[in-house]
Amino acid sequence: MMKPVIEELLNRIWMIIGAVSIRIKIMGIVIIGTLLLSVTLALQMRASVTNLMEQQLESRGVSITRDLAARATDDILVNDLFALRQLLLETRTNNPDVIYAFVIDPKGNILAHTFGEGFPYGLANVNPVAGDQHHQTFLYSDGQDMVWDIAVPIFNGRAGTARVGLTGSVITRNVLMLTSQVLLTTVVALAIGLIAAALLVYVISRPISELVTATRSVATGDFTPRIRSWANDEIGELSEAFNAMTAELARSDEIRSEREDLRRQLLEGVISTQENERRRISRELHDSTAQNLTSLIVGLKNMDTICDSPIIHAQAQDLRNITGRVLDDVHNIAFQLHPTALDDLGLPAAIERLVHEWQKRHQISADSVVHLGDQRLPENIETALYRIIQEALTNVAKHADAHNVSVLVERRENEVVAVVEDDGKGMQPTNLSRGRLGVAGMRERAELLGGKMTIESTPGAGMSLFFQIPIPQLEGGNLENPNPAGG
Ligand SMILES: Nc1ncnc2c1ncn2[C@@H]1O[C@H](COP(=O)(O)OP(=O)(O)O)[C@@H](O)[C@H]1O
Ligand SMILES: [Mg+2]
Repeated sequence: MMKPVIEELLNRIWMIIGAVSIRIKIMGIVIIGTLLLSVTLALQMRASVTNLMEQQLESRGVSITRDLAARATDDILVNDLFALRQLLLETRTNNPDVIYAFVIDPKGNILAHTFGEGFPYGLANVNPVAGDQHHQTFLYSDGQDMVWDIAVPIFNGRAGTARVGLTGSVITRNVLMLTSQVLLTTVVALAIGLIAAALLVYVISRPISELVTATRSVATGDFTPRIRSWANDEIGELSEAFNAMTAELARSDEIRSEREDLRRQLLEGVISTQENERRRISRELHDSTAQNLTSLIVGLKNMDTICDSPIIHAQAQDLRNITGRVLDDVHNIAFQLHPTALDDLGLPAAIERLVHEWQKRHQISADSVVHLGDQRLPENIETALYRIIQEALTNVAKHADAHNVSVLVERRENEVVAVVEDDGKGMQPTNLSRGRLGVAGMRERAELLGGKMTIESTPGAGMSLFFQIPIPQLEGGNLENPNPAGG
């Protein structure tokens, strides 16, 4: 029952302490520590000094009164009241602490006193002392200070009693002075403590804030900041460890970017080799195989005309049909490998043909809008865009279950934007798993050219692929192929 309450309380306190800055924590400790120390010190000193001074005052009072009692004996015995009063006045003058002195006879009558007008009512009876007593002290307050009233019997009480009152005003004054001195010392100690604390805060927090700034820049990928080592302490060690860490990070970042460069180069090489090879095979199919097949068809037709045999006629017809179909296939394969339209007529015509063929083959409605202006794009960008759109359309046919697809390719100021949008079932992000190279390949192609790909997909509501590829601006506005990935 009690434990959770205490825990809760500690948590609260820690939350408050934890929320303030180191500066306030350290300053707070110094202030609280100093104040606690001085208050304890002041109270203890007051107590012991007061005690000591009270004892001293009392023993002085006793010896004054005893002295008075001894000297008063003769005057009382001869009944010289005038001399007795002189003795009392003298006692008071010689001792500044004595505020009054008087003598009473054994019956309680006042023989002499130092009070000017009237004797305070009742004072005579408050401190009775027996004849066999050494002395008797009665302590009372006169409204301002304490008063020590000391009674000593004269001639064993037979001649009466001597009474002296001593004021504690000296004690009050001294204790007040002592307290104010302690207070002054506290202020001075506090000032020195605060200066020392401020110095400490500076020494601690400066390297820490440097560390924070440096850590922030490391978080943004800048590994250059190094921390000055201020001292050889824990913070110095931390700074050194930080510097070692950033140096290591910088080194591995360098290795990583070297590897990345190498990977890019390799990829560019692979893509360009693949593209060249495809183009070569496509040309070969187109120029040689297709030509030969055409010659074959012409030969079969000639053979057919020269020969009268109906069997040969029928067979020649068959062979011509087969050859025609093979020729179509060869054209198709050649087109898919590398459309000559891309080289000869440019990207708009190639895309138009691609979309048209795709629509025919898959029976899905597709439209394309290509605005590229008069100037042709660099060859590597044309090839990349063509391949990207080809893969995007393949994916739509394979995965989307779409009814409509639209392709948009548009040149904006310094970049070309391509969008392939379908109204199919959309893509689950989990489908972009390892081993699937289509989407990754599209992104890679765009990134190799300094561009980027964005996927927008809502399951059940189709998918859009956005590509942005910057167009390199060469001097004189002459757009040439700076990096022939397409050969
Ligand atoms: N247009 C699309 N509509 C729906 N899902 C798609 C679409 N395009 C790609 N996907 C999903 O993304 C996955 C990854 O595509 P991709 O990388 O091209 O690999 P692959 O075509 O070989 O499966 C596909 O398996 C498919 O689930
Ligand atoms: Mg695919």
